[in-house]
Amino acid sequence: MYTEFAEPYRPQFHFTARKGWLNDPNGLVYYQGTYHLFFQHNPSGNEWGNMTWGHAISTDLIHWEQTAHALLPDSMGTMFSGSAVVDWHNTAGFQTGKSPALVLIYTAAGGTSPESEGKPFTQCLAYSNDGGKTFTKFTGNPVLPELAPENRDPKVIWHEPSQKWIMALYLQGEEFALLSSPNLKEWTMLQRLSLPGCMECPDFFELPLKGNPDISRWVFMAANGQYLLGEFDGHFFKAETALISSDWGKNFYATQTFSDIPDGRRIQMAWMRGGEYPGMPFNQQMGFPCELGLEETPEGIRVCRRPIQEIETLWDQSFEWNTVLLEQDEIVLPVSPSSLLDVEIQLESGNADMITMVVNKLPVTWNIRDNQLEVLDCSASLPPHTNTLDLRLLIDRTSLEVFSLGGTHNFSCCTLEAIPEPFILLKKRGGTPLLSRMIFRTLQSIYNPKKE
Ligand code: FRU
Repeated sequence: MYTEFAEPYRPQFHFTARKGWLNDPNGLVYYQGTYHLFFQHNPSGNEWGNMTWGHAISTDLIHWEQTAHALLPDSMGTMFSGSAVVDWHNTAGFQTGKSPALVLIYTAAGGTSPESEGKPFTQCLAYSNDGGKTFTKFTGNPVLPELAPENRDPKVIWHEPSQKWIMALYLQGEEFALLSSPNLKEWTMLQRLSLPGCMECPDFFELPLKGNPDISRWVFMAANGQYLLGEFDGHFFKAETALISSDWGKNFYATQTFSDIPDGRRIQMAWMRGGEYPGMPFNQQMGFPCELGLEETPEGIRVCRRPIQEIETLWDQSFEWNTVLLEQDEIVLPVSPSSLLDVEIQLESGNADMITMVVNKLPVTWNIRDNQLEVLDCSASLPPHTNTLDLRLLIDRTSLEVFSLGGTHNFSCCTLEAIPEPFILLKKRGGTPLLSRMIFRTLQSIYNPKKE
């Protein structure tokens, strides 16, 4: 038996459940100094099933403490994904004390348990008046009857200009809906929208444009991170783009952003769907929390996703290089070996055909000739004429997350292949590329403030 959190495949700076299966992040919300992370959870097994809302809290989005389960299956179904809001104006009337109620909006997945056989998927509410320690399901549930078979994953936001709650909901196929409500209890359909090739876990929010906060765009994002940008007036979302991808890795799914963060940051977490954790008491991990921004890029306005700055509190040793010309086909840069890394790299192509960085045995290749970025067995096309590249690599025991081109071309990857090495290997083919800058940082474990 291993000591808890020291198991060999336990991620050391990514959230995992203490035991059992985990999938989507749910109910991401900040309330009175605490971040809440609820999650799709099977408390009694390492495979998907018995969907329950697990619950963890944090004051820094880095160190999490798992607490009592928030929502248990009932006769209406098991507890599928949803969101959380702070009901500042007590619109739903749940508030009993001086502080606003914390409200969960979730899907009761009828028919997924013997107790709910024959029942439909409906949208329901639960609330807390003790800061999220305990939740009471609303006696008037459901607040939204079935609109389409297996409709699910309500994500609710407060829309200040219209003084209404807006819900993004997954219907079926590639269909989603937007609805509005004055009180979280009565909902009116605003529109249906179709996102080709997308399903599940919609998110809907406004982002200001970097450098020009008078300009903003609304983002409608699906579970796989693909999104539309457009305008929203409280009644209708008018998309102005085709679908845009945000992650090219194999393990990025069920994205959700936090509600009510006081400093205005839009912070997202996703499930790293499909990782393997052989012999572990838990199954699956979350991606590292990231801040979203909206920026002008050569391809137009894009959502940029970068690791939250709080990661700096885990930084331990660092090694830095500036202006290294890659004249030989291979160079080796010595570092302290660690299985937990945060690496920043800036490169200029220098007419090379290809540059590969191998960190902890994991290759990341900038295929300049084909204008592609290749991470493990995934690849993304880069914008035409890309001749400088910025990369950020977060490496944990079972994952590699790559953020590139300002966080517009990212890869979330689970892997069991990472092995700490006392060097970084840089390989190139042709030309004389320039390593303008590289900072290699080892990270502390969130469970043990010692080096890995
Ligand atoms: C996405 C999803 C959601 C659903 C939940 C069930 O991964 O399928 O659509 O609510 O997981 O666990």
